Amino acid sequence: GTLKVFTQERGAELGDLFGIFFEDLNHAADGGLYAELVQNRSFEFDPIDHSDYHALTAWGKVERGKGSAELTVEESAPFSERNKHYAVIEILSEGDGVGILNQGFNSGIPVKEGEAYMFSFYARRDSSFDVPVRIAVEGLDGIVHAAAEIAVCSDEWTKYEAVMTAKATDYSSRLVIVTKGSGKLYLDMVSLFPAKTFRDRPNGMREDIAAMIAELKPKFMRFPGGCLVHDGSLNADERNSMYRWKNTIGDIEQRPARRNNWRYNQTLGLGYYEYFLFCEDIGAKPIPILTAGYDPHHKRIVPLDELQPWIDDALDLIEFACGDSSTEWGGIRAGLGHPEPFGLEYIGIGNEEVGEPFFERYAYFHRAIKEKYPAIKIINSSGPFAAGGEYERGWNSARENRSDLVDEHYYQSPEWFLANYNRYDHFKVDEPKVFLGEYASWGNTYYNALVEAAFMTGLEKNAHAVGLACYAPMLCNVDYVNWKPDMIWFNNHEVYGTVNYYVQQLFMHHQGDHLLKIEARGFERPHAEPAASITGKLTLCTDLCSIQFRDVRLINDETGEIKCFEGLPEVLSDMQEDRLNGTAKRSMELGETDWDSYTLRFKAKKISGPKGFDVCFGK
Ligand code: AHR
Repeated sequence: GTLKVFTQERGAELGDLFGIFFEDLNHAADGGLYAELVQNRSFEFDPIDHSDYHALTAWGKVERGKGSAELTVEESAPFSERNKHYAVIEILSEGDGVGILNQGFNSGIPVKEGEAYMFSFYARRDSSFDVPVRIAVEGLDGIVHAAAEIAVCSDEWTKYEAVMTAKATDYSSRLVIVTKGSGKLYLDMVSLFPAKTFRDRPNGMREDIAAMIAELKPKFMRFPGGCLVHDGSLNADERNSMYRWKNTIGDIEQRPARRNNWRYNQTLGLGYYEYFLFCEDIGAKPIPILTAGYDPHHKRIVPLDELQPWIDDALDLIEFACGDSSTEWGGIRAGLGHPEPFGLEYIGIGNEEVGEPFFERYAYFHRAIKEKYPAIKIINSSGPFAAGGEYERGWNSARENRSDLVDEHYYQSPEWFLANYNRYDHFKVDEPKVFLGEYASWGNTYYNALVEAAFMTGLEKNAHAVGLACYAPMLCNVDYVNWKPDMIWFNNHEVYGTVNYYVQQLFMHHQGDHLLKIEARGFERPHAEPAASITGKLTLCTDLCSIQFRDVRLINDETGEIKCFEGLPEVLSDMQEDRLNGTAKRSMELGETDWDSYTLRFKAKKISGPKGFDVCFGK
C-alpha cells in the first residue's frame, strides 16, 4: 500500500486534546496526592462519612509505664467554628507519659532517613499543666526515628510547629504525642508534612505522585470530580454539603471537612487554590467542574428562584482565576499568595446529570457566564453512556444553548472500544465539541492499554469534533479502592503507573498541533467470506447499579431455538459489593453457532444507581 501525507494541507487543530482528570476517590487526595501524613488530623471523622468512622478514627491512646489518661473529643470551645472537634487528654496518672498516637494512612506514617518533616498542631492547656509535650515518630517497636519537644504555654488555642529529621527509614511508623504532669491537654489540627513537597509548595503535594502526574505532560486537568461534585445537600454549611469551591480555600483550619460521596472524609486541604497552583506547576489548563445545584443521586434540587448564589459561585470562580487583584475574588487569590491570575479557558457545569432539572438549570448558568465572560468555553454535561437515551438530552441541551463542549463518559469492555473506533467520524465540525471527560476499558492489562491506544487514534483523527479527552479515574491508593481500573496506583511510599498510564503519556508527549491530510491506498481489507460458524459469549454487564433481570433468553430467529442464561441472579449487580470488581458480569456461552439472526429478550427493572447495562458479544 501507499500512504501519502500532505504536509502543507492542515486539518483540524488538536488544541488541548489529551489531559487528565483528578477526582478524590480511592483516597486520591487525603492519603494520596495531598502530602499530609496524619489521618483525621482535626478529629472531624464522623459516621456520616463512613459507618465505621468516629472522631478518633486513626487515633489511639498512649499510656506508658503506670501512666493513665482519659481521651475524649469535645466541641464546646473550638478554635475553628467550621471544624469544631478537638481531642482532650486528661492526665490521671503521668507514669512514663500519656498521650495520643496517629496511625497515618496505609501501613502507617512513612519517614525516610535524613529527610525533614514539618510538625504542627493547635494546642492549649489548663492552668495546672506545665510540662513540655514530646512529639515523636516511632516505629511499631517503639524505636524513635525523629523527635521534638514543644512547650504548650497558654490556655488559649495557639499554633505550635517543629521540624524533625528522621534517623531511619520506616514506612509503618506512628506519630506519638505524649506528656507528663497533670491536668488537661487540648489538641487540634495535628499535622505532619514532609518538608519536601512537589515544587516546595507549603500545604503541598506528595512529590512522587505529583511528579508521575507531571511526567504525563497533560494539556489540561479536570477537577475535582466526578460524582464527588454534585452528591450532597444544598446547604454549604452542612457536613454533607455538595462540593462548594469557596469552602476549599483559605486557612486549612477554616475549611470544613466534608463527607466525600466515595464513603470517606475529605479534609479539603487540597482545595481550589492548590488545584490551580498544581495545574500551573505541571503546565495543564485548569478545568473546574461545578454543580448546577442538582443532586441526581438524591434528587435534591435548588429552586430556580434560589439559583443565583450558585450561579454567582461560577462567576466568582472565574474572577478568582482570571480577575486582577483589584477585583473582589482576584484580590482574595492575591491574598492567598498568587497576585497574577491563573487564567481560565474552560468551565464545566454538571457531571453526568440525567433529568430535566439539570438541563433547566444549566441554561441559567450558561447565559450568565456567557454574558459576563463570553470567551470562557462552557462544558455541558450528559449522562453516563446508556445507549443513546440520556446522552441525546445532553447533546440537545448543548445545541440549544450553544455550549462549547459536551462531557461524555464511558467505561466499557475492550471490545466496545474497538467497535467504537469510528464513533466520532460523523460528528460535525459546527456542533459543540466532545469533551470525553471520563473513559477507560475495564482493566489494567496490556490488551486494555492497546485498545485504548487504538481508540485514542480515533479521537485524534476526529479532532474536528473531539476537543478534550481524559482517562479516568487517575489515582488509586491500593488500600482504599473505590473503583478500578485506575491509571496510577500508590501506597504510602511507592507509586507506579499502569500500562494504561504509559499509553496516555505516549499520546500526550506526542500530540501534534493539527491534522495533516493523508491518502492511503492499498490498505483495504481483502474480501473474505464470513466464517461458517462462530463461538462466542454473550455477556450482560453493568456497573454502579442494581438491575433485576427475569426471563433472559436468546432466541434464534430462524429455528426458534431458545438459549437461556443459567444461574442469572435476579439482581445482577449490587452497587456496594460489585463496585470493586468494576463491573458485574454474567455470561452465557453460545458454543458453535451459524450465521443466524438472534433476538435477545428479557425483562429488566432498575433497582438503584445511575447507570444502565451493556449487552456484549465477544470471545
Ligand atoms: O470516575 C469515577 C466515577 O464515574 C465518576 O465520579 C463519575 O462521574 C462516573 O460515574
